Amino acid sequence: MQNGSSSRTVGIDAIAVHVPRLYLDLRDEWARVRAPELGEASVEQLVGKVSKGVGVTEMAVPDAHEDSATLAAMAAVKAITHAGIDPRDVGTIAVGTETTVDQSKSIGAYVLGMIEEHFGVELRRVGAPQFQFACIGATYALESAVNAFRAGEATKPYSLVIATDVSKYPLKSAGEYTQGAGAVAMLVSESPRLLALDARVAGTITRDERDFFRPNGLSTAVVDGKYSIDVYLGAIAEATEMYLERARAELGRPGARIDQLADHLLFHVPFPRMSEYAALRVLGEAWRADGSLRGTIAAAAPQLLSTELERDPAVRKEAEKALAKSVLFRECYERRIEPSLALSRRIGNIYSGSMYLALASLLETAADRAALAGSRAAFFSYGSGASARVFSGVFVDPQRAYVPHVTQALDGARVPLDVATYERLHAGPSSDGPPSLAQPGKSVLPPAGEFALARIGTDQGPARTDLGYRYYEWVAS
Ligand code: CAA
Repeated sequence: MQNGSSSRTVGIDAIAVHVPRLYLDLRDEWARVRAPELGEASVEQLVGKVSKGVGVTEMAVPDAHEDSATLAAMAAVKAITHAGIDPRDVGTIAVGTETTVDQSKSIGAYVLGMIEEHFGVELRRVGAPQFQFACIGATYALESAVNAFRAGEATKPYSLVIATDVSKYPLKSAGEYTQGAGAVAMLVSESPRLLALDARVAGTITRDERDFFRPNGLSTAVVDGKYSIDVYLGAIAEATEMYLERARAELGRPGARIDQLADHLLFHVPFPRMSEYAALRVLGEAWRADGSLRGTIAAAAPQLLSTELERDPAVRKEAEKALAKSVLFRECYERRIEPSLALSRRIGNIYSGSMYLALASLLETAADRAALAGSRAAFFSYGSGASARVFSGVFVDPQRAYVPHVTQALDGARVPLDVATYERLHAGPSSDGPPSLAQPGKSVLPPAGEFALARIGTDQGPARTDLGYRYYEWVAS
């Protein structure tokens, strides 16, 4: 048995995404209102910064009846339906989130209840834990699910891993245009149809950091923007180093660079430009260490070869700026990274799901999805506070395993918000007591063909106690 467990092929069998129908266009009224409030020189300057410098044009906004639990349940239903499996074959529902809906109850249990209602099944012999560590929570959930299969401990053919979040920063802050909302659900199994994860290669690191956090009682995150970028880059570089040590040995590729091991580099995407910064760091480290590229690097980004690079952040910044313009980097970026960013440009940051949204984006936008089979994707997961995990997997049969649905949803059924309505939704429902006891506000789009937060419990007495409990229901179209 101990050898049988290590030879199991485990990975992602199916993946599905759900995002709210409402969105805010960041090139429109919002930019006209915010440009003076943010002290920008002009509306065009703000639009340029947000759409090119940061890389987002639209961001998903949850309606009053949507939260991390409804988004998760919707993604789960799509994953189960697309994969064509019986929901009773799911043994674990593991949720990664940093915007939970209750301080005690797992979103996994809420999702279980919604799946039971939707499919008319009973799911009792199921575990439903929640994993929290900023944006890396779902990666830890995935690791746990995968390890259960590898150890031969899974009791049913599938585990459901769901990343779900509503990203919220204060209005009129630099974080505002990096908000978003959405969930990604993945079915994990043995002999997966979509992506087989490489065993024994992952590199994980954790540092005690204050780059981004959300103190109890606050609905918006506190972030030290520039510092958070530095921590992200340092953590990812360190975890990549560890991944490379293990992957070179395990995959029998001594000395191989990251871009020689992996065909696609999928990063945690708080905003699309961050993937470019991360690619510059990871590829810059790989290329400066490779003697065969010395001439090319010396011509394109000579600072990258400087001995000062490790000590002086200004030298590193200059080196990476030069590398960003080089043909070597641009070609690699366009081929291996850009396809993973299309969805986040239109959805924004969905925190724990954003790296998995990058995977969906690659699948969604591939001109020839079948041709991805056999190629390797490296994943660079990051959670503030701070932890990074780098791992990889090989596509199996993406043409048959992936059902395109996200671009269609974005192109078809989305409804743009005006700034006043967006700000009302952002403020949330009002209450005399804690916000978590307030009834959901009026929806902009009445729920239809989806799960909805129906009401918040108000009873606290001998007969029944449900004060603050969240009741969800399926609303037919
Ligand atoms: N046209 C094109 N580009 C423009 C421009 C224009 N008109 N105006 C500015 N730019 C460029 C800038 O030059 C800059 O690019 P470079 O880095 O290449 O120089 C880019 O736009 C961004 O400009 P700023 O740095 O001035 O942007 P900002 O002050 O708005 O800050 C931010 C950006 C720090 C990301 C801010 O949005 C923020 O705090 N976001 C939230 C925190 C975050 O996402 N951190 C990421 C790491 S932490 C993490 O990943 C966890 C998580 O999910 C939160």
